[in-house]
Amino acid sequence: MPIFSDTELQEISELQKRYPEPAATLLPVLWRIQDKRGWIDSDAMEEAAAICQVPKSHVEGVVSFYTMFFEKPMGKFHVQVCTNVSCMLCGGEKILDAMKARLGVANLERTPDGTFSIEEVECMGACGGAPMMAVNETFFEKTSPTEANEVIDTILAKGEIPTPKFVQQMPELSEASNR
Ligand code: FES
Repeated sequence: MPIFSDTELQEISELQKRYPEPAATLLPVLWRIQDKRGWIDSDAMEEAAAICQVPKSHVEGVVSFYTMFFEKPMGKFHVQVCTNVSCMLCGGEKILDAMKARLGVANLERTPDGTFSIEEVECMGACGGAPMMAVNETFFEKTSPTEANEVIDTILAKGEIPTPKFVQQMPELSEASNR
């Protein structure tokens, strides 16, 4: 079954008109696939290759290079904990250990019900807020094992990612207020 609807293919076609080569849209095409499916399997890579007019081997290289693309299913809530230098010095590894213990899964694995997965990540560009973790695209900065567990508590209770505390303190920084 094709990944994209006719409308979506039309949108991609419009995007491709902005670039000299269809290959230039490979990253956004892959991102849309992951957004729709949660990961990028072999058939999806084939479809992306056809849309962007590149060999499938090129798509495989791109997907394996960028760690933000998943080659196997991840959880609905993907927990990423940074253990690069700034975060490591501020306790990132303790947060990672706490999340592994809480969720009962190893790095790049997901819980049996598919709700959570965990990933140890390199710098996510939020060093000033070290130690940090992210759940999907929401960043939790200057966090701790206790607060990380509270994030999981909220997701389990409400089925949604809580608002990070720095956004609560400075609502003008929220994504919604910047649109
Ligand atoms: S070192 Fe963790 S966000 Fe940069």
